Amino acid sequence: YKVPKAVNEPVLAYGKGSKERESLLAMYKKMYNEKADIPLYIGSEQIKTGDTVSMHPPHDHQHELGVFHKADKKHIEKAIDTALEARKKWAKMPWESRAAIFLKAADLLVGPYRDRMNAATMLAQSKNMMQTEIDAVCELADFFRFNVEFMSQIYADQPISVEGIWNRMQYRPLEGFVYAVTPFNFTSIAANLPAAPAMMGNVVVWKPAETQVYSAQVIMEIFMEAGVPPGVINMVTGKSSMITDIVMNHKDFSGIHFTGSTPVFNSFWETIGNNIKKGLYRSYPRIVGETGGKDFVWMHHTADAKAVATALTRGAFEFQGQKCSAASRAYIPKSKWADVRKFMEADLKSIKMGSPENPENFVNAVIDKRAFDKLCGYIDQAKKDKDAEVIIGGNYDGSKGYFIEPTVILAKTPKYETMCTELFGPVLTVYVYEDKDWKEILEIMDQTSIYALTGAIFSQDRYVIDYATDALENSAGNFYINDKPTGAVVGQQPFGGARGSGTNDKAGSVWNLLRWISNRTIKENF
Ligand code: ALA
Repeated sequence: YKVPKAVNEPVLAYGKGSKERESLLAMYKKMYNEKADIPLYIGSEQIKTGDTVSMHPPHDHQHELGVFHKADKKHIEKAIDTALEARKKWAKMPWESRAAIFLKAADLLVGPYRDRMNAATMLAQSKNMMQTEIDAVCELADFFRFNVEFMSQIYADQPISVEGIWNRMQYRPLEGFVYAVTPFNFTSIAANLPAAPAMMGNVVVWKPAETQVYSAQVIMEIFMEAGVPPGVINMVTGKSSMITDIVMNHKDFSGIHFTGSTPVFNSFWETIGNNIKKGLYRSYPRIVGETGGKDFVWMHHTADAKAVATALTRGAFEFQGQKCSAASRAYIPKSKWADVRKFMEADLKSIKMGSPENPENFVNAVIDKRAFDKLCGYIDQAKKDKDAEVIIGGNYDGSKGYFIEPTVILAKTPKYETMCTELFGPVLTVYVYEDKDWKEILEIMDQTSIYALTGAIFSQDRYVIDYATDALENSAGNFYINDKPTGAVVGQQPFGGARGSGTNDKAGSVWNLLRWISNRTIKENF
């Protein structure tokens, strides 16, 4: 079969006075007052345990959006049993039928669920209309549709046969169940992590981040309406360590699909390694993860100052800097710094900050109090340190929502703490170097952080571009030349990094889907 050709979902503009803007705002207002009551989704059951957690918009933290229910041990065990039961039919279902379900999910998302999905992400994750449209609708629909195309390519591939011998490749899902642990900062990633293994015939226990459960509920509604059979994707919420303990210490655990922090990912390797030593699992579990980043922008003196300033403003501060790909350290040559700074100051002066329902607010709130306190701590420290100076922004106000101004720190040494540590918020640190030292600074950049997710270089000199591309070969899984280091588009720039940033299995790609199958080669003689 040929599946429908995937194309990137067009981003709606939500222009002033447009029907789509009014419709989304009406949904936002409705959901703001709805008082959600989010159950566990286990098989065909929606379980309300009575042990609940309140949810609040980060930009309006005194308002309650509703509650979600927390699982205890027996619910997690039930989710695993239910998944394994569902596997019996799902793993045998023709792949075309699984593909059809996820193509329908994409259509439901861009059609009847578009407003609900966007409003949920705006409310609970404080993203403005454009941010959520790009993430929760377009990127997610792209993940579903492109993955269907990629799976069709995988299944079409068969070994050669010779006279009297028929060789076949049987594409089987993993034996057992997959655990998906997903982040708050991208609704699309949160949905793709359970969806990608499920498309390849696996069953999944899914634990979304607490601050993303609100939009996760909408994803579950879409999965159910699209026809994902009960038990194939089970959504559980509750204490992370308890859930992970039960899931990873189960003999049928067969893989983890993760996006989150490096320390958490490291602890998974440790648990899995110990269990392998004990002989708990039949097969080696697949470990697929995308973790942190300390993403760079490097400018050579041949580059255009305005282009670099725009890349920094967008790359560092869009989505409140809460992107693993966000530009968070910049290296600017001395001869260009005054111009870059002037353009950035002008850009940032015109930027508005506030609630996401006003689309003019380019910067919204950071996700929660913990993130807010941590980021403010770094800003306050930079205000005191002799090796740093806060040159733009630096103000914050957590009284109504967790708002932090786009902040630029000027570091006097390339090893200053905020040049090296991932902050995950609207804080950019700049180091200004002597023009002639451009080769040395590339070396320092490569050695500055444990991460290798994204990075961007700017130059108009082809020799310099080639030199820097080579010098930074292992510094970023997504490498941008004369562009910001964010905004990878599914099917165009497959996304993922190595080193401390993860296993580099490129979200939404053939390489990712291949991790969710365990093939049998069959040879038959005639
Ligand atoms: N995929 C997202 C980006 O590229 C995180 O910005």
